[in-house]
Amino acid sequence: MTMQWQNQVVLITGASGGIGNAMAKALDEKGAHLILAGRNDIKLKQLQRELVHDHTLVTADITTLEGRNKIVEVCKRWPVSILINNAGTTHVGQFDNAPVESVISTNVISPMLLTQDLLPLLAMRPHPHVVNVGSAFGSIGFAAHSTYCASKFAIKGWTEAMLREYHDSNIHFHYLAPRATDTAINDERAIALNTALGNQVDSPEVVAKALITLLEKDKSRLSLGFAERFFAKLNALFPALVDNALAKKLSTIKRLTFDEPKPCQSEDKTPNAEALSNKLV
Ligand SMILES: NC(=O)c1ccc[n+]([C@@H]2O[C@H](COP(=O)([O-])OP(=O)(O)OC[C@H]3O[C@@H](n4cnc5c(N)ncnc54)[C@H](OP(=O)(O)O)[C@@H]3O)[C@@H](O)[C@H]2O)c1
Repeated sequence: MTMQWQNQVVLITGASGGIGNAMAKALDEKGAHLILAGRNDIKLKQLQRELVHDHTLVTADITTLEGRNKIVEVCKRWPVSILINNAGTTHVGQFDNAPVESVISTNVISPMLLTQDLLPLLAMRPHPHVVNVGSAFGSIGFAAHSTYCASKFAIKGWTEAMLREYHDSNIHFHYLAPRATDTAINDERAIALNTALGNQVDSPEVVAKALITLLEKDKSRLSLGFAERFFAKLNALFPALVDNALAKKLSTIKRLTFDEPKPCQSEDKTPNAEALSNKLV
């Protein structure tokens, strides 16, 4: 079925970011009405100025109930037909000090809760779609990205379960997995690592084009990058091969992404037997 873009109301979370911004421009060109959600009002207004048509802006933090409710209220006024769960955050470095709660909350729990809230509204539209933005790291566990990988593996699994659960309904679920993309989510460490490992980096416009293809061709899954798709398959079939290949890169990954070791404490904090016995009395 041909996508009737002029009839679509598309909610993009993380519209103020690099990929969201490019998606907004591509969908604006197609003639859809957009609900652009993000935390940064100034960036959203700037984006609106760069678009041809007038859209609806909503400033909201998706990790809060208040933020999600605000988005839902807007979607009642503008009956949403396509939800793009794109907002995300990352952490690059050793697991010891990873912000686990914030990454899992932003990348997994919040899109799941927002989708739960919006399903009744989506179901009222004839051919609604939910697109979940994953990552190449949703198929390959990668050192120094453990929490991010956990979040993207979760989104991938959840999307697969949902597209199967809703197979007999009018709601279509899709999984879009970009590879490394040139946006602000990649800090200096991530950029240095991509350069050192020779990883291809896409522009956000490439991801936006893939989104349009995914929706127009009604594809359930779309992953960007031949090498990334190949390694994802290899990892699924022969994980030990990928373990060995990545073990050879570990020293580079650690050198470029791990924090400097903290200076040793001069004071020995190991409790001695005398101190312990004092505590017991
Ligand atoms: N760039 C890559 O290399 C790459 C590769 C694979 C997958 N992805 C995925 O692509 C998606 C978009 O990332 P990006 O590259 O465009 O990164 P980005 O430029 O950093 O944009 C992230 C967006 O998410 C929003 N966001 C973060 N936390 C939020 C929260 N609590 N509530 C509401 N919005 C929040 C940000 O809003 P603020 O402006 O308020 O911060 C921003 O609009 C993410 O899911 C990411 O995991 C990116």
